[in-house]
Amino acid sequence: MEIEKNKANTSTTLRVDAASIQEIFNLTGQLVLLKNQLLENPEIKILSDPFLKGSLSDLDILIRKIEESVLSLRLTPIRSLFIKSHRVAQETAKKIGKDIEFHYEGEDTLIDREMIDTLSDIFPHLIRNSLDHGIESPSERIKLGKKETGTISLKAQKMGNEVIISITDDGRGIDRNKVIEKAILNGLLDPKMNISSLPDSEIFGLLFKSGFSTSEEITEISGRGVGLDVGKRIVEKLRGRIEIKNHPGQGLEILIILPLNTTIIDALVVEINRVKYLIAINEVIEIINLNGVTMGRVPASKKFIIYNERPVPLIEPNLLFSQDPLPPIGKSREVGIIFIHGGRPMVLKVDNIFTQSQIVLNPVKFEELLEKSFISGSAVLSDGLVSNLLDLHKMADFHLEMRD
Ligand SMILES: Nc1ncnc2c1ncn2[C@@H]1O[C@H](COP(=O)(O)OP(=O)(O)OP(=O)(O)O)[C@@H](O)[C@H]1O
Ligand SMILES: [Mg+2]
Repeated sequence: MEIEKNKANTSTTLRVDAASIQEIFNLTGQLVLLKNQLLENPEIKILSDPFLKGSLSDLDILIRKIEESVLSLRLTPIRSLFIKSHRVAQETAKKIGKDIEFHYEGEDTLIDREMIDTLSDIFPHLIRNSLDHGIESPSERIKLGKKETGTISLKAQKMGNEVIISITDDGRGIDRNKVIEKAILNGLLDPKMNISSLPDSEIFGLLFKSGFSTSEEITEISGRGVGLDVGKRIVEKLRGRIEIKNHPGQGLEILIILPLNTTIIDALVVEINRVKYLIAINEVIEIINLNGVTMGRVPASKKFIIYNERPVPLIEPNLLFSQDPLPPIGKSREVGIIFIHGGRPMVLKVDNIFTQSQIVLNPVKFEELLEKSFISGSAVLSDGLVSNLLDLHKMADFHLEMRD
């Protein structure tokens, strides 16, 4: 172990072997699990001794603090990602003859080390998008009364348990009509439907489809229509989400919202066909009672529910799992889990919902196998049984592509 004194500020940093950190990590995971088993034990739950109860509650708080500190060992400032993006922006701008200013802020925001590596695959796509689709040529900008040089800004910010990273440009933004035109041409939208009533979120969701581009030709910079699709997949793999804020004529803002950690997470325990599954809480927008909501079916299409006065696709897991529905063990509550997929709400029907639980996710090694299922990890619950974490996005993708 090496100790370095940082001259600029007096903080001391330690160089620690990655394997040691992993070991502390695994041990903490086991500690959290054991604590959960202890606290949820029925015999413990009915304890009346106030002293013992107080000690257990202190133990809970202490272990949560240890867990937080251990998780923070994996965190590192996002700066390197911003610096790399700056370089990509300069190189691309030069290549296509555009002049830009590049700003960033919040570069000290801490984020999981592995996430930085993963995000390095997305950022060049987003920067190239801003330069190619967003920022106008210098002469066009002058004509529009804009500053001759365009601006791209990156910003990172911690908000509770999440980190929000934004990529903003002051270009032309997304032209809704151009997207609609292209989508009709590609058969993604039916010109007979009332397209003007579709919300922006639905129209912009099309940009995330693989192969969708508004460019007329494929260049080195863009036109293949894979940039946003890749970005969305990667962010969802990190259990985060992407949002688009469009300001027509003024620019585009892309928000990437990521959980602070992906190892010890809060999950909902749900029942589907008599099996318990886990759902990451940070993905859940709302939990609704499906009894009594208006359901419908678009002719020759899939079921939907009316949520916030709009039709929202309903995923029935039995169809995905190709199982005949079994009656739930207890009284079914027919619960709907609302989540955002590709910028749009979707609802997953589950038979029952139990408690919220803090889980320690087992690292997923057997990717191949998981590709074919809707599972993105597993965890031991406090009753000692292993339960699988549902990959809501894989389910949503499969549901949307499934034929009736
Ligand atoms: N910053 C931006 N400003 C305006 N429009 C954008 C911006 N970023 C993306 N878009 C729109 O989203 C579409 C999809 O982007 P995406 O990166 O997926 O594909 P592409 O850039 O056309 O091709 P490539 O896969 O080669 O990057 C673009 O064709 C463009 O219409
Ligand atoms: Mg692109």
